[in-house]
Amino acid sequence: MSLKEKLNPDKLPKHVAIIMDGNGRWARKKGVARVLGHRSGVTPVREVVEASGELGIQYLTLYAFSTENWGRPVEEVKALMGLLVATVKNETARLVKNNVRLHTIGDVGMLPESIRKEIDHLIEKTKNNTGLNLVLALSYSSRWEILKAVRAIMDEASAGKIKSEDLTQEIFGNYLETKNIPDPELLIRTSGEQRISNFLLYQIAYAELYFTPKLWPDFRKEDYYAALLEFQNRERRFGKTSEQL
Ligand code: FPP
Repeated sequence: MSLKEKLNPDKLPKHVAIIMDGNGRWARKKGVARVLGHRSGVTPVREVVEASGELGIQYLTLYAFSTENWGRPVEEVKALMGLLVATVKNETARLVKNNVRLHTIGDVGMLPESIRKEIDHLIEKTKNNTGLNLVLALSYSSRWEILKAVRAIMDEASAGKIKSEDLTQEIFGNYLETKNIPDPELLIRTSGEQRISNFLLYQIAYAELYFTPKLWPDFRKEDYYAALLEFQNRERRFGKTSEQL
């Protein structure tokens, strides 16, 4: 029985988030430029998007570029931006055909205009698609997102539009970039690092965390199925006891 066949279709997470890590180490191991590691990271993106669509997973969020990544050498940032725009262009037809709807979270205003244009175009082109929602985290970090939310709430409070006692978790969620997106139930990080790196800190309160030593460029559908199987074998208690579930 294949890993895919072992998956219980009724117990799949609605939302999977992935920290795609290890492109640089993959390149170093092969003795090639870091940018080739990033370029080789596009195949696994295609694989997880396709697999998520096939399985009927509703949301897939990929950490493509963090706020902190702006601090990388200029050449690497340029290469990543170029790769992003090329990938968006090259993948447009496939995403449309596969009924994928594109969204972004993050400070996209920081991105070069040419990239913003391509991405906006693809968001517009896929807005009526009803399959997988692919969320790209671009120039994203949780602390930036939470601070932005708090500032907006404070402004509204000053304007008398909201009172502190009326603020609930649900309302707070509406100020986050992930408004209308359910919380991830599974967070995967590749490359063996076991940390969250400023990614969806508020939203992963109850997510299952899955760490794999595989470097991102080597991650394939089978690795994704393995993560989903492990998710299905975990007991999610949400603060309750096993007996209460
Ligand atoms: C982390 O590896 C990866 C990134 C900072 C970029 C992720 C980008 C891609 C996978 C390219 C394509 C993506 C899309 C959505 C088109 P790292 O450079 O931090 O690796 P290291 O820790 O081994 O140095």
